[in-house]
Amino acid sequence: MSNLRYDPTAARKLIDDSAWDALIEPLQAARAETLADVDLMASEDIPKDKQPLDAGFIPYPEQLLGSPELDTMIASAERLRDDIDRLVLLGIGGSYMGLRALFEGLCHPYHNELNREDRGNVPRLYYEGNNLDNDTVAGLLELLKLRCRDPEKLKHRWGIVVISKSGGTLETAAAFRIFRQALEEFYGADAKRSRKLVVPITGEEGKLRQFSNERGYKDIFPVPDGIGGRYSVFTPVGLYPAAVLGMDVRQILQGAAEMTELFRSAPIGENPVLDYVATCHLLERDRGMNIRVLSTWGNRLEAVGLWYDQLLSESLGKHERGATPITGVNTRDLHSRGQQHQQGSRDKLITNVIIGSPSTNPVELPHVPESLDQDQLNRLAGRGVPSLLAAAIQGTNKAYADDKRPTADLHLSRLDAHTLGQLLQMLMLATVVEGRLIGINPYGQPGVEDYKRNMGEILFG
Ligand code: PA5
Repeated sequence: MSNLRYDPTAARKLIDDSAWDALIEPLQAARAETLADVDLMASEDIPKDKQPLDAGFIPYPEQLLGSPELDTMIASAERLRDDIDRLVLLGIGGSYMGLRALFEGLCHPYHNELNREDRGNVPRLYYEGNNLDNDTVAGLLELLKLRCRDPEKLKHRWGIVVISKSGGTLETAAAFRIFRQALEEFYGADAKRSRKLVVPITGEEGKLRQFSNERGYKDIFPVPDGIGGRYSVFTPVGLYPAAVLGMDVRQILQGAAEMTELFRSAPIGENPVLDYVATCHLLERDRGMNIRVLSTWGNRLEAVGLWYDQLLSESLGKHERGATPITGVNTRDLHSRGQQHQQGSRDKLITNVIIGSPSTNPVELPHVPESLDQDQLNRLAGRGVPSLLAAAIQGTNKAYADDKRPTADLHLSRLDAHTLGQLLQMLMLATVVEGRLIGINPYGQPGVEDYKRNMGEILFG
């Protein structure tokens, strides 16, 4: 049974039934095309307008679940986990945002500040190579120097996972060179440990692959062909570091595989992928709502929203088209974006992402003596934070409904590995289906390549 439920009831009040009905056939065709693309990838003759074609993410979770590669990957991740106390993850865009979504959703919110034992004996996590920010690079190098002095002590040891599908992205390549040098200074350039504690995840070809082979790194994992960067969260790109950090990668994959099956078989009306696409598409086409707010009700979902920002922008933001994604975190952003969403231009569809039960016991408001009740919260004493949040969700949705502002709700029964697998796969499938529906190739990102090329010319001449 799915732990995820999509409910567009409120938004549908702004959609004509006839428009919804008329979309059923094209939507079914877009689903069929999305699924047929998986087989088309094997063909020698992929039509030009279909290139690039990166539909490999659709069957991959199921394939990986049944394969010995998964055991090999998990065994290597466990070795690395037991050998280091700090993991430096180098990657940008699709080569880091998926892991970040998993990490923030599934690990302790103060992970890095906990003792190793309280972290479940897994390393701390740091990101680099996702920007060109001198101060954060220098800050992390300084932190590693201060905290890591004796390579013989587990609590001082650190390692690198470097992720780049192309192997040529400058941000990641520059960071790799810098942190590799620091690591080799710490352990010794030719030390066996230096080779064991760097794990590259990269395509079968490219500069990083070539360097890694020649340097003799013990474990190198592939970014499978036919899976693009922003669709790669369920490959070693997201799952290898997730396994190092102790996440249940089998459950993540299981959730993703179940979502694919639901997408394949469920009719419109019971199919979260198709229902989501229909709602978003019709409100954009017929009501000009081309701003999509993923309104996450919980801090731990913010990185899912940032991951989705990239997915939607890079996939459909082409040919002067494509909706604009915005991530919100409520109730925090009710005090910043909320005003605009309530009374600004009518160009937004709000999709709430709501977690049914928190992962921890409800923290209750304490009762205080009358003399300290100036805030008058004794009336709510005994109520837990989740019940206050539920009131905020209900109140906000009612305010939007009263003003005919469309909202839809994505309910997650809880935030766990299985549910997050379902959610991310649902959003990837929806992005591709929408692309097929509106005639935009959801794979590839030619605009991003432009900046990379210009930057290369400026730097290398
Ligand atoms: O979705 C994509 O393909 C991109 O966003 C890439 O993930 C990003 O540009 C990083 O590329 P690479 O993994 O080749 O370093």
